[in-house]
Amino acid sequence: MNYHLGDAFATPETKNTKRPTEIRSKIVVRNVQKTFRTKKGDVPVLENINLDVRDREFLAIVGPSGCGKSTLLNCIACFDPYDSGAIEIDGELIRKPSPKRVFVFQEPGIFPWYSVWDNIGFGLGRKMPFKQKHEIVMRYIELVGLKGFEKALPNELSGGMKQRVEFARALAVEPDVLFLDEPFGALDAFTRLEMRREIVRIWKATGKTCLLVTHDVEEACELADRIAVMTRRPATIKEIIENPIPRPRDPDLKEFRDLKDHIFDLLGVERRV
Ligand SMILES: Nc1ncnc2c1ncn2[C@@H]1O[C@H](COP(=O)(O)OP(=O)(O)OP(=O)(O)O)[C@@H](O)[C@H]1O
Ligand SMILES: [Mg+2]
Repeated sequence: MNYHLGDAFATPETKNTKRPTEIRSKIVVRNVQKTFRTKKGDVPVLENINLDVRDREFLAIVGPSGCGKSTLLNCIACFDPYDSGAIEIDGELIRKPSPKRVFVFQEPGIFPWYSVWDNIGFGLGRKMPFKQKHEIVMRYIELVGLKGFEKALPNELSGGMKQRVEFARALAVEPDVLFLDEPFGALDAFTRLEMRREIVRIWKATGKTCLLVTHDVEEACELADRIAVMTRRPATIKEIIENPIPRPRDPDLKEFRDLKDHIFDLLGVERRV
């Protein structure tokens, strides 16, 4: 069938039609603007961001380097203030960071002097009774496939295993929303592929709402329900694309390649401007 890919993948936001009411938004970003004020002058980063993230959705954000992807996540997590607009989570304007919203970064932030068990238990606090803490920590150690490594120190683990500890640590505090900012960026190509599969499994098992920032278009197409493509700085959302391919997704499928090409076209236009 000969159809225009942009229209085929475009979601209600990009077509400017009303979203069906049965789809509940977990996160609503409305007309958000942000400029960094520096000694060298103002750096306008987010121009007019509008985004709805559905409950339990896996949404990827792609865009040119330096366009404001991390800034947007930081604003949604309330780590960074924005100048105007509104961000709501579960229907409420967010005003401060919350343990219900946690980050997983490229460089695992685990403590090198703590064991796997201690790292994962860290966020649960000192006051939690040991039995309860142990139950939670072991549940997540098992979920991320690190059973048997409870007592290992980070320097005894591979990069992929460290990233698993990071995921388990983030999940152990039972967040609603996981922010993944280039979480696989420091991993080798093979481990990246393995971790992609793992994160889908973990996401399915835990039912979290996930916001992933990635440079890797294939990764976005494999993992996400929808992909938001940002423009150059000062950034807006250029298009939000519904991923029509059922999981598990095969990158060799024509549909997958078409989706990737469409996103590359959107990003390519931005690079050429
Ligand atoms: N604290 C800050 N003060 C001033 N400018 C900043 C600050 N943080 C980010 N910026 C600028 O804002 C812009 C967007 O940065 P951001 O880190 O959000 O981009 P990004 O899309 O995540 O980039 P990358 O893909 O390289 O990670 C960049 O031009 C950056 O230099
Ligand atoms: Mg970034």
